[in-house]
Amino acid sequence: MQWLEGRKILDFKSSDQTVRNHLATAMFRAWWHPFSRFGVIHGDPHLGNYTVFEEAGEASGINLLDYGCIRIFPAKFVGGVVDLYRGLLSNDRDRIVHAYETWGFRGLNAEVIDILNLWARFIYAPLLDDRTRTVADGLNPGEYGRKEAFTVHKALKEKGPVTIPREFVFMDRAAIGLGGVFLHLDAELNFYRLFNEAIDSFSIDEVAKKQSVALQSIGLVA
Ligand SMILES: Nc1ncnc2c1ncn2[C@@H]1O[C@H](COP(=O)(O)OP(=O)(O)OP(=O)(O)O)[C@@H](O)[C@H]1O
Ligand SMILES: [Mg+2]
Repeated sequence: MQWLEGRKILDFKSSDQTVRNHLATAMFRAWWHPFSRFGVIHGDPHLGNYTVFEEAGEASGINLLDYGCIRIFPAKFVGGVVDLYRGLLSNDRDRIVHAYETWGFRGLNAEVIDILNLWARFIYAPLLDDRTRTVADGLNPGEYGRKEAFTVHKALKEKGPVTIPREFVFMDRAAIGLGGVFLHLDAELNFYRLFNEAIDSFSIDEVAKKQSVALQSIGLVA
């Protein structure tokens, strides 16, 4: 709860590409590592909740502020997020459907699955593409995600009813929030590589163990 000195992320919008990439990488880690290791997310990743700290006058890392929306997920759900990624990467429909079920979606039929795939392919797009790129990759950043969100929302209403799990809402909001920060920084990274390095040694059992130790250490487990 101490005061953290830092500057607004947007102050770095016109910094060198290397600096912006460095900050984006730090943001990625700050979000993904707690999730993939402990099943915990900062559920409100908007620009006001981060500042940049400097060392020797250079942007060094990210201060994470505002713990007002922390979510803890079961390890199995974290596994579902990784599984959905692997299913999309290998175009394995059974694996994809299984992942949606792990996420908690109910009432899935072939049409609904196609709609969810549209959404998932959009959210995971930078992670599925093994090259250095921006998140928007040539699309207008101002429009980013609007069309997809509209299409998916409308189609789910028509083809439903579908039970949307709460986990989905948090992950969606977080992914869009984080994507928004990357867009502002105009970061050019190989998101595929970043992500694959991060899930290389992923194990659901490990997440469960680490989460349980962490929660017990702060008295959050009954
Ligand atoms: N520990 C801290 N060190 C430095 N600045 C802080 C710290 N905590 C909060 N701030 C500043 O105060 C602002 C508001 O704090 P915080 O985000 O916790 O409140 P909030 O009510 O959730 O606001 P918002 O709805 O804008 O997210 C932050 O955006 C940040 O600029
Ligand atoms: Mg805040």
